[in-house]
Amino acid sequence: MPDKRQLDLELSPGINSLAELAKAEHECTRCPLYKDATQAVPGEGRKSAHVMLVGEQPGDKEDLTGKPFVGPAGRVLDRALADAGIPRSEVFVTNAVKHFKHEMRGKRRLHKRPNAYEIERCKIWLETERALVKPVAIVALGATAARSLLGRAVTIAKVRGQTLRLADGTAAFVTIHPSWLLRMEDEADKEREYKNFVADLRPAAKVLSSSHKSRNAA
Ligand code: URA
Repeated sequence: MPDKRQLDLELSPGINSLAELAKAEHECTRCPLYKDATQAVPGEGRKSAHVMLVGEQPGDKEDLTGKPFVGPAGRVLDRALADAGIPRSEVFVTNAVKHFKHEMRGKRRLHKRPNAYEIERCKIWLETERALVKPVAIVALGATAARSLLGRAVTIAKVRGQTLRLADGTAAFVTIHPSWLLRMEDEADKEREYKNFVADLRPAAKVLSSSHKSRNAA
């Protein structure tokens, strides 16, 4: 496992804190998504978290509140984190894309998956979050997060359960996006996949507990 201090990601020029990063994200016009969103949704959580969770993009509720994973998918994530033994207050939660991409269906704003260009344009903010927080391990929640972190498209079924290494040595685990569970209709399938999701989060729980032990021993 890489030492937090050995990580050497480039900071964006002039950004030395999460507050400065949030300001830059709020002013971002690097792709057109800012035009229809209420606001950018910066990552949130423990400043020196050993574990970072990366989702796809804010949803309707996140766009309105400015906070990541506070809507229905966030509730599934919170329950799974608790079942895996991960206090949300101990991790840093963010998204690959910081603005809500959607289309109008009547009065409803329906989520639209960000494309490769939007993921690429937003990567600078995720990389800056990584450079500031310096997590030891990152969990990619779904294909968009995996694509941003790994720089290539992956099939989740092929890589879940593995410990991958990002270019700088950070451990990465890929799992499903919690909103996938919300879309499942069959209760038995949903329960089985929920358990698999919790199992995918357990390696991150291990990282957290071993980092606690080394902190307490120091
Ligand atoms: N889905 C995401 O990927 N991120 C959020 O913040 C909310 C829903």
